[in-house]
Amino acid sequence: MRYLITGTAGFIGFHLAKRLLDDGHFVVGFDGMTPYYDIKLKEKRVAILSRSNGFKAVTGMLEDQEALEKAAELAEPEVIIHLAAQAGVRYSLENPRSYIDSNVVGSFNVLDLAKRLRPKHLLLASTSSVYGANEKIPFAEADKADEQMTIYAATKKSMELMAHSYAHLFRVPTTAFRFFTVYGPWGRPDMALFKFVDAIRDDRAIDIYGQGQMSRDFTYVDDLVEGIIRLCNVIPSEDNRVSPEIVEDSLSKDAPFRVVNIGGGQPVELLKFVEIIELAMGKPAIRNMLPMQPGDVCRTYAAADLLEALTGFRPAIGVEEGVRRFVEWHQQHC
Ligand SMILES: NC(=O)c1ccc[n+]([C@@H]2O[C@H](COP(=O)([O-])OP(=O)(O)OC[C@H]3O[C@@H](n4cnc5c(N)ncnc54)[C@H](O)[C@@H]3O)[C@@H](O)[C@H]2O)c1
Repeated sequence: MRYLITGTAGFIGFHLAKRLLDDGHFVVGFDGMTPYYDIKLKEKRVAILSRSNGFKAVTGMLEDQEALEKAAELAEPEVIIHLAAQAGVRYSLENPRSYIDSNVVGSFNVLDLAKRLRPKHLLLASTSSVYGANEKIPFAEADKADEQMTIYAATKKSMELMAHSYAHLFRVPTTAFRFFTVYGPWGRPDMALFKFVDAIRDDRAIDIYGQGQMSRDFTYVDDLVEGIIRLCNVIPSEDNRVSPEIVEDSLSKDAPFRVVNIGGGQPVELLKFVEIIELAMGKPAIRNMLPMQPGDVCRTYAAADLLEALTGFRPAIGVEEGVRRFVEWHQQHC
């Protein structure tokens, strides 16, 4: 299959592209190599992907429609997977405009490209953050999710809304996945696991927000990639609507559009997470207990039933094993 993937220099795009290339597919990777975190890490990821003959890298910004068109010409994609984004919840308080540019304008450009190219399936990365401070747990796709707490979440929800309207108007089958705190080797240095492991190694204190009471549904990156690849083959249509006796499907009644969580449904409290890291590193952390930050939510918790009904798969790698693998990678590469 021929894939166009945006965000291949990033953490998740790298792992997804690597898996598809290992499986013998052709991938054009589009990425702006933005300086949100160390570009050297992005360059290393791209260098690994470039060892494969099936990979072509195109450097460009989502906001630049011509650059996207060039990547599309090279790819002639059957499937488009849009992962590039300004990620990070906290940074959206400091620099909201970069989220509008990348996630709203940039995502619109990807939708417009798909309208013209008509791939078999367009898949987009959204986030558990769109559930905001929802109190009903676990978070299910059919739940109301209209009260986002940050501009990051609001831009992702905006992308989902634009994608629904385009799927309705132009009939490109579209799946928006909502990812839940993804972690693993080659991960993001701005995320808690990477920061904590760096700090513990260097005998620095770690900032624990919400007095450690917040919980997150952590998803190991290999599980996430498995979920994405399986969902590529589940093209939203009335033919595969899941029976309401099994689970409430989020498939739109007006468009070939569906939202699907990818998360394991096993939230872990932050303090417990720190203990797991200490165990994996064989070293205690120095804890700096802090209150919750503006925009933080108390918990994320995925309902994984729709994913399982559609794909037969549910994330299975536990956080102890996942953190152990991350720490092993960190010791070798950082
Ligand atoms: N990692 C997580 O826990 C998580 C959770 C929920 C959702 N997501 C979403 O998954 C996707 C991938 O996240 P990630 O963790 O791999 O992040 P990442 O920052 O590692 O990767 C994103 C990539 O997109 C590129 N990019 C950013 N803005 C761009 C632009 N305007 N034009 C072109 N390229 C641009 C960056 O250079 C980067 O390589 C994002 O859409 C993110 O919002 C991630």
